[in-house]
Amino acid sequence: MVVVKSVNELKKQVGRLRDEHKSIGFVPTMGALHQGHLQLVSRCVAENDACVVSLFINPTQFNDKNDFNRYPRTLENDIALLASVGCAIVFAPSAEEMYTPSEMETVFDFDFGGLDEVMEGIFRPGHFNGVVQVVSKLFSLVTPDKAYFGEKDFQQLAIIRRMVQVMIFPIEIVGCPIVREKSGLALSSRNALLSEQERTTAAVIYRTLSESKQLMHEKTVAETKAWVIDRLNAIDGLKVEYYEIVNGNSLQSITDWSDADYVVGCVTVYCGKVRLIDNINYK
Ligand code: PAF
Repeated sequence: MVVVKSVNELKKQVGRLRDEHKSIGFVPTMGALHQGHLQLVSRCVAENDACVVSLFINPTQFNDKNDFNRYPRTLENDIALLASVGCAIVFAPSAEEMYTPSEMETVFDFDFGGLDEVMEGIFRPGHFNGVVQVVSKLFSLVTPDKAYFGEKDFQQLAIIRRMVQVMIFPIEIVGCPIVREKSGLALSSRNALLSEQERTTAAVIYRTLSESKQLMHEKTVAETKAWVIDRLNAIDGLKVEYYEIVNGNSLQSITDWSDADYVVGCVTVYCGKVRLIDNINYK
């Protein structure tokens, strides 16, 4: 495995793979790797001749400076983990390597087709602009055949699929199922910021979402939504930011279970100071 920090070195490494007619799979990450990331990487290794992973805490997608500063940084450990699962190239650039100073200060413009006007887009203004900015740059550099994203970031995955369509990237986007702890808590780099007690409390999020799935036969969409929010807010240490039951393709809220064939419940909950997201597939 090679670890490269500069754009030029990455281009050389990718050029070498292309000269050898090797297929390239790509997993973009912000580091602080956990089992969820490693499953993406293992799948990428299995399905491509070479797997490239980026480790870059992208400053332009953090609307909250404190969140950026608090984000876990575990570069050495991440590199060791990636070596153990068969990754070929790690790209770990600095912010200066990725952006000009003006790019760091201007909001990247993109036509989201409305996908950014709901859920995370409302509570994290500019977040998805930064995600599209960095992922489009990474795609141009790595030129992967396939790129792997977790379904935990449900809205992000929908936006990446749109980005590939709009920007005509010849890349297959592979969505991968959420990986959970035994307790049901969705794996996330942010879980490292939870205390032991908060970790136990946070497990209620998935339990509640799962229970709500049983209710959909007897309750309306509005009643189910209210039930989830009330149940979570009743737990000491949890505070719901939003819970939306949406059409899984358009991300628009539904009002009746028959409004869409693909229905997903998306939640963001503060557990203490840590912002956690999760989702459940109703149908
Ligand atoms: O999901 C993430 O970790 C990030 O948003 C991504 C896709 C690596 C872009 O910085």
